[in-house]
Amino acid sequence: MQQPITLDTRYIDGFVRAHEIAALQPQVDAAHTMLHQKTGPGHDFLGWLTLPRDYDKEECLRIKTVAKRIQADTDLFIVIGIGGSYLGARAVTEFLHSPNYNLLCKDTPRVVFAGNSISAQALNEILALCEGRRVSVNVISKSGTTTEPAIAFRALRDHLVKTVGAEETRRRIYVTTDRVKGTLKGLADREGYETFAVPDDIGGRFSVLTAVGLLPIAVAGCDIDGLMAGAAAAMESFDNPDIHFNDCYRYACARNILLRRGRAVELMVSYEPCWAMMSEWWKQLFGESEGKDGKGLYPASAIFSTDLHSLGQFIQDGSRILFETAVLIGDTGDTFIIGNDPEDIDGLNFLAGKPLSYVNNKAFEGTVLAHADGGTPSLVIRVPRRDAWHLGYLLYFFEKACAISGYILGVNPFDQPGVEDYKRNMFALLGKPGYEAERAALEKRLND
Ligand code: PA5
Repeated sequence: MQQPITLDTRYIDGFVRAHEIAALQPQVDAAHTMLHQKTGPGHDFLGWLTLPRDYDKEECLRIKTVAKRIQADTDLFIVIGIGGSYLGARAVTEFLHSPNYNLLCKDTPRVVFAGNSISAQALNEILALCEGRRVSVNVISKSGTTTEPAIAFRALRDHLVKTVGAEETRRRIYVTTDRVKGTLKGLADREGYETFAVPDDIGGRFSVLTAVGLLPIAVAGCDIDGLMAGAAAAMESFDNPDIHFNDCYRYACARNILLRRGRAVELMVSYEPCWAMMSEWWKQLFGESEGKDGKGLYPASAIFSTDLHSLGQFIQDGSRILFETAVLIGDTGDTFIIGNDPEDIDGLNFLAGKPLSYVNNKAFEGTVLAHADGGTPSLVIRVPRRDAWHLGYLLYFFEKACAISGYILGVNPFDQPGVEDYKRNMFALLGKPGYEAERAALEKRLND
């Protein structure tokens, strides 16, 4: 029997009153109905809602088979994608294994991520890593037209053709894209690449539990069945719209109330460095889903105690614009006992024999109380164990909280119109055919 995660709201007492959360029940009911009856904005993108139950079991088996093949014939697995097309895979791998996965992996390939910037340095570095290694590539793009991954894919495909030849290149490229449309799908069909589908009704930032995330996660040797089982348990747990029995919905309510109180920044905090990329995944999920129409919380993140030595001063004593959401991992699967120093030079012998997790927990307790005293409230999400099941549960917790929170906020959580604006300007300035008028106007603004 797995222990579920829980939301602890005691450290927002004094900032948010219990009756304020209760007063949001009618809005929660409305959001829940819109989501489950598919009547709200963005209702074409709700495939993630029942994915843990309805996912394509055959494709999942194929993912496991292909992952085994890649593990056997590959030293360096390159995942090309940006935004929702890479963050989930990287976040899950780093949380379940380590941010140092590539230094520690033994029976699984190194996994690196490309095409998530427009940096020549970053791309050249990946190409340099390919030298002397058996390389396979998973290019992931739902639209199949995103510039950053497309440039990286060009470079890596070219590298493969030059080093292993056209035939072997075909075997070493795996494509995750739309089931029927897009440039990438066309290329994959023409070349005969092994292809996985991004479901039509699941947007990038909600796609970690589709082939988008699952193939790289499986290649890195993580337990994808455990992830799906945890997500399925969360799907069941968070089906009750009554906020007294639904931590996911209470989290959505609390953050909305804090926003209404002028806390425009939500700082996700973890005391485990392996959570850092999970915060990046969470930032995209909430930032892209809620940050629109002049609304939304700005999602930020920190790792404690590391960042208590850089951001701690601001959080304790600076502008009162933020609240924290701390994700506390109970059993990380690691133990370290602090040793005894006969000379006690650093004066820490009072800690000898204690596990490091004990010190980390006291750091949390001391910090959360100090920050409350300084005027920064904290929500606390308690995760009993670091394992695939609990992570799957958490991924679903955040996805559903994001959808409910977005509906409470009054936005469409499933579109991202603002992401297009920089792309249009960049294409115009690069001289892409069809953008001539915009180019002239933009160049005038830049040169005035
Ligand atoms: O959440 C989203 O939809 C976006 O962040 C996309 O994941 C990102 O822009 C990449 O898009 P694509 O997968 O089409 O290349």
